[in-house]
Amino acid sequence: MNVVVTGGAGFIGSHLVDRLQGLFEKIIVLDNLSSGSIENVRHHFGKKYFSLEAIDLKFYKDLDNIFESVESVFHYAANPEVRVSVFDPRLHFEENLLSTFNVLEACRKHDVPYIVFASTSTVYGDARTIPTPEEYFPLEPISVYGGCKLACENLLITYSKLYGIRSLILRYANVIGPRSGHGVIFDFINKLKKDSSVLEILGDGLQKKSYMHVEDAVDATVHLYKNFLTSKKDYEIYNVGNDDWITVKEIADIVVKEMGLHDVKYHFSPATADGRGWLGDVKFMLLDISKLKSTGWMPKMSSEQAVKSVVKYFLNRV
Ligand SMILES: NC(=O)c1ccc[n+]([C@@H]2O[C@H](COP(=O)([O-])OP(=O)(O)OC[C@H]3O[C@@H](n4cnc5c(N)ncnc54)[C@H](O)[C@@H]3O)[C@@H](O)[C@H]2O)c1
Repeated sequence: MNVVVTGGAGFIGSHLVDRLQGLFEKIIVLDNLSSGSIENVRHHFGKKYFSLEAIDLKFYKDLDNIFESVESVFHYAANPEVRVSVFDPRLHFEENLLSTFNVLEACRKHDVPYIVFASTSTVYGDARTIPTPEEYFPLEPISVYGGCKLACENLLITYSKLYGIRSLILRYANVIGPRSGHGVIFDFINKLKKDSSVLEILGDGLQKKSYMHVEDAVDATVHLYKNFLTSKKDYEIYNVGNDDWITVKEIADIVVKEMGLHDVKYHFSPATADGRGWLGDVKFMLLDISKLKSTGWMPKMSSEQAVKSVVKYFLNRV
């Protein structure tokens, strides 16, 4: 059978494509290359099992025929920039919600039985229970990105109840690793390469979140997908993260140390009175992953190990 990976030329999507190789006859990547890159999937070019369609999910007619004979869709295309969503809500509505609606419509029309959706910890907003379990309520996202992702989740649940498209919804913590072109580590390294005497840190540095290595993230994804195929549920929601968290200041310390720098002055620039990095930034995020662990899966790296490994990777690459 065939699988569609939307956003398969992006950071997480391309790692997923690597992992799905061999599990399906054909992997069809749909990506408009807005933030993804051909380089992320170039190693699959010319292989019988792989095709890349440079299409935009905002336009239904472009994806209509592609979903024929597809067993599963991994829907990972999105605009993942929380900051952007705050000053350009329409962009996020279209890139995240409208695109998801189009993908679901194509699944409905072509009887695709399974969809896996890349959701996010931001659907919880400023959760009052930490670590936050899947059943936490009320879900009050504080960014348009989080609001759109939650609306997407609701659409998926409705399509599973109404049309029998079985949905696996994965709420990821912060995912980091090779091929990522944004995020705090990338930002710190770039700034310190320009000026190694001072580092501007968005927020008060006390923001504390969990960071998952992309290898762990895709490993958990494929594990949960295989599990889901054998279950009878219409839909399932899982937190996907690890067990610990780390502050932004601690990440800065790791970057500075790994770069071999000394006497770097930190300049904190909070965007809000309570020290957030930007409007819509969730300050504290740690997911309760008991449900994920109950399926027999364990993360290999802690947040600190993941951050150190990714910092080393970026520094070696440069
Ligand atoms: N990176 C994280 O920390 C994180 C955490 C939680 C959830 N997620 C979710 O995981 C998914 C992948 O995120 P990522 O970090 O790899 O981001 P990314 O930007 O690297 O990947 C997104 C991909 O989608 C493509 N895309 C965007 N709009 C499209 C459109 N209209 N049509 C076709 N393709 C389009 C982009 O070109 C890109 O290749 C996203 O849904 C994101 O919301 C990411």
